[in-house]
Amino acid sequence: MVDDDMGPETGASGSGGTGDLPPGPDGLPILGNTHQYIKQPIGFFDELIEYGDVVHCEFPRIDAVAVFHPDYVGDVLLGQGTYERWNFDELKDLLDYEIAPRGLTFTRGDEWKRQRHFLQPMFGLDRLKGFSSAMTTATERMIAAWDDGEELVLNEEFSWLTLSILTNSLFDFDLGERRQVIADAADELQAMADMSGLSAVELLLPSWIPTHRNRRYSRAMDAFDATVETLIEERRANPERYDDFLTMMLEKEDDHEYSMSDEEIHDHLITFLIAGHETTAMALTFTWLLLARNPEARERVETEAKTVLDGPPTAAHLSELTVTERVAKEALRLYPPAGMLFREAVEETELGGYRIPEGTKILLPQFTVHTDDRWFDAPEEFRPARFRSERSDDRPDFAYFPFGGGPHQCIGMHFAMMELKHIIPILARRVDLELVSSPTPDVNMELTLQPAEDVRMRVHKP
Ligand code: HEM
Repeated sequence: MVDDDMGPETGASGSGGTGDLPPGPDGLPILGNTHQYIKQPIGFFDELIEYGDVVHCEFPRIDAVAVFHPDYVGDVLLGQGTYERWNFDELKDLLDYEIAPRGLTFTRGDEWKRQRHFLQPMFGLDRLKGFSSAMTTATERMIAAWDDGEELVLNEEFSWLTLSILTNSLFDFDLGERRQVIADAADELQAMADMSGLSAVELLLPSWIPTHRNRRYSRAMDAFDATVETLIEERRANPERYDDFLTMMLEKEDDHEYSMSDEEIHDHLITFLIAGHETTAMALTFTWLLLARNPEARERVETEAKTVLDGPPTAAHLSELTVTERVAKEALRLYPPAGMLFREAVEETELGGYRIPEGTKILLPQFTVHTDDRWFDAPEEFRPARFRSERSDDRPDFAYFPFGGGPHQCIGMHFAMMELKHIIPILARRVDLELVSSPTPDVNMELTLQPAEDVRMRVHKP
């Protein structure tokens, strides 16, 4: 339902003709719809969709359009040249976003194309097979550290687990204390993107104003940069061959067509750490939350793990773990870790019958599209079987896009699915996790979609 200050304007049904701007709610002067978004990000989009499939909303300095129909989501994601990734220039003073300006998530045009072309083979299934044992070993180590009966903060456990898998895959040696520097930076980034605790005044403060939050953030990022720089230097000085992403990237230096500068390698490593760490940790956290609420599904995952695996999972088992795969996909539908994708119209265009002026920011809220009853029966229910191929064939292509789509589709998608298909069956076989905290926590939209409170579970080792 639409509340009073968000009610649709008369006649704004979402079926405007070309030339009309999309409909949308009224906002406050200066802050636009920021207060509604911050109060309840997901609820905000549930209210916006009442205005149609292409809806206008406003934030400080930003004119945006939210898109809810899969066909239009596809138009945007596939419409390179008309839509580019939003590079957050308008927020430059608010968020110190220049984390990895030459990494794959911020470059555009030819530079991005060249980078993607050269990095893509590193993420092919054949290359990734080598990371199977890093995934198994880190998971076994995590379980071994748990005591029977201990209460765990599951989101933190998974955050460490995915960070350790990723750092071992990026740099194939023990990072020791340096892993903490990386974890701190990842935490600070996450906190910086969490606007839920901010007042309107703080929201408008630029990041160079030395608030406590900004100082802590700058310190963590400086330490992070320095650590990554020394890791690259150490590797250059050490000719031994390691089986990791860093080696794969340094090998590119011998490529005559293309060689990466230190700055680029540094930015890519940071990009992979940021893009691949919390996303996968959240996928695991929400998968386990859903399994704890759905014991039958939990049972099926365990049965499959016992049937398919006679030891630790390897890349060869992946195609057989179909129940696990459907469970993970359904968790990514209900709780898509990226939450929302961002684009910018770089020329005037038309979308869903509406005029989209050049410079308009485009928001693609996965959590709203993924739970639209036009594409999913009983969308709030956890039903992994909806991902059986015979049932998903009729769905529009972009009704489900947890890894995005089109040219910028997640480069780490196979890596992430491989992690989920290693970790979930190992856990299902080895431990029972009993939910202690709320079965239905609120979620916040930070750098990733996050539970608003810790997900706590008691571990039982049968
Ligand atoms: C469950 C885990 C993950 C989810 C849900 C996820 C989600 C996404 C999404 C939705 C995008 C598209 C963003 C856009 O179009 O604007 C994306 C892009 C990206 N992801 Fe992931 N991701 C995950 C894991 C990973 C991992 C493990 C890595 C690296 C090791 C990674 C690296 C990247 C990079 C570099 C991009 C940018 C690609 C480009 O623009 O060419 N992601 N991810």
